[in-house]
Amino acid sequence: MQHFLDFNQLSDSGIEALLKQVLEYSHQPADPGHRQILDGRVITNLFYEASTRTRVSFEVAAHRLGAEVINISAGGSSVEKGESLRDTLETLVSIGVDAVVVRHPQTAVLNDLVVEKDIEIALINAGDGCGHHPSQALLDAATLITARGSLVGLKLVIAGDIRHSRVARSNIQLLSRLGVDDIRLVGPKQLLPDECPQNVSLMTEDFDIALADANAVMMLRIQHERMGGLELPDTDDYHRRWGLDKARLMLAHPDCVVLHPGPVNRGVEMSNAVADGSQSLIRSQVAMGVSARMAIFDMLLASAGAGQR
Ligand code: NCD
Repeated sequence: MQHFLDFNQLSDSGIEALLKQVLEYSHQPADPGHRQILDGRVITNLFYEASTRTRVSFEVAAHRLGAEVINISAGGSSVEKGESLRDTLETLVSIGVDAVVVRHPQTAVLNDLVVEKDIEIALINAGDGCGHHPSQALLDAATLITARGSLVGLKLVIAGDIRHSRVARSNIQLLSRLGVDDIRLVGPKQLLPDECPQNVSLMTEDFDIALADANAVMMLRIQHERMGGLELPDTDDYHRRWGLDKARLMLAHPDCVVLHPGPVNRGVEMSNAVADGSQSLIRSQVAMGVSARMAIFDMLLASAGAGQR
């Protein structure tokens, strides 16, 4: 497998192997023995959109495997002078970079590029517009498995701005491939998809109904940057109907865990008490982000590298 763009490029056994590797790394992510794995390799982070945890965890993951990391953000690079993504990638190929982690506002930008032309560099999707965010879904699945022991019997609610969420799309894709068959979507009508996606068991505006017996809730931010003129409820109304506070969380199963990919808008999609409460896995998700990204680099570069060297 040359690129990691979404889970369509992976077989079921490929997904299982990747997840197993994430969980293995999560036991000892900072083991100095890992540093030989990508020794001498060069990885570039190419981010056309804002990011804190995704960019930094890809960087830490690469360092932990012994790779060199170069960070490029759209401001301050030739992108500002109008260079296309394709020309930027070809420049990086000529420089000798082994893999590029790309975050871009345009949906499917990398899928379109690789169909159009062979790109002789490993591309890793760190979020494409309203498309996919596979490394986030991978870390979410690993976090759920670590917290609950397995995904068997999981009843998951994904709440908020589903329409624009690459995190929701990748999680539905990955978790349904892993056998989760009770995924419910909730949010205001204008932030739900026009049609109920495949592998989703319920789509509703009523958060309280969706929460019945749920054992995981994944909260999402309203992605104002992708709204394109949609009318939204005001913040108080939104929080009252689609925000998660302690009282509403009591409607779920008592063991229900709470996830959020971040950044959290406290007081909008989630109260402070829930974000910082004992059922919150938000900090575990961020920590798992490093192991997930180590496993992705390992899958794409480690064995290929052994053959090339
Ligand atoms: C998400 C993203 O960028 O899609 N964040 C992340 O990667 N941690 C979700 C968001 O921006 O709301």
